[in-house]
Amino acid sequence: MGMKDKMELEDVAFIGRTYAEYMDMFAMEEKIFLDGPVLDCPAGSSSFTAEACTRGHRVTACDMLYNLPVRELEEKGNRDITLIGQKMEETAHLFRWDYYGDKKGHMGHRVAALSRFVADYPAGGKKGRYVRAELPHLPFADKSFTLALSSHFLFLCGDRLNPGSHAESLMEMARVSSGEVRVYPLQGLDGKPYPHMEEVLNMLEQNGISAEIRFTPFKFFRGADKMLALKAGRRA
Ligand SMILES: C[S@@+](CC[C@H](N)C(=O)[O-])C[C@H]1O[C@@H](n2cnc3c(N)ncnc32)[C@H](O)[C@@H]1O
Repeated sequence: MGMKDKMELEDVAFIGRTYAEYMDMFAMEEKIFLDGPVLDCPAGSSSFTAEACTRGHRVTACDMLYNLPVRELEEKGNRDITLIGQKMEETAHLFRWDYYGDKKGHMGHRVAALSRFVADYPAGGKKGRYVRAELPHLPFADKSFTLALSSHFLFLCGDRLNPGSHAESLMEMARVSSGEVRVYPLQGLDGKPYPHMEEVLNMLEQNGISAEIRFTPFKFFRGADKMLALKAGRRA
């Protein structure tokens, strides 16, 4: 099989990570939930919300596909897990498999997240845990959350959006969070750092949002060891 330097995807995959992966990616400890409600945007088939809510935490997930019924999401989720598995075979050198033990261990996390999400989505949707939303607009009042998380969408799919659209989405997330917005990873599907980061951070600064780049203990995508932490107003 020929190896590729970039994972080529026609569509943004409906795929998801687990609670444990989120805690690592965003360098979070459980006490962070004591501060207030958390937003996951876009959440895809992540089980972060389902697992966090089982632990008694207040978390809301949003995604542009949450208007679809659970069976359609499950089918798309299963198709996308298979597709990502094939694409990862062609780009295996871009990943550190030891984080999950091996490739099978990694796929096990994707399947477990989807299954946990599917089990929670119907009842969780009725309780308002799964909300249809399409960035750059979020259907939440200002400061509805104390933390907003965005994993594996914005900079990862960086070539689908221009720098202005990135800034617009990040400002919208900052609007609905009274605390931080955290984004991971800061690289594209080719493993290279998002090329317009400085331009995006300048636009945010002009709109009163300060940024910090922080290390994360999550080590799967090679070189993806940092997250972006944004906060409205100046940092102390
Ligand atoms: C890779 S998944 C998210 C994975 C999840 N955050 C995690 O790390 O487990 C990307 C999601 O972005 C959603 N999406 C794509 N464009 C969007 C937009 N403009 N607004 C909201 N969701 C969007 C897709 O439907 C898909 O479910």
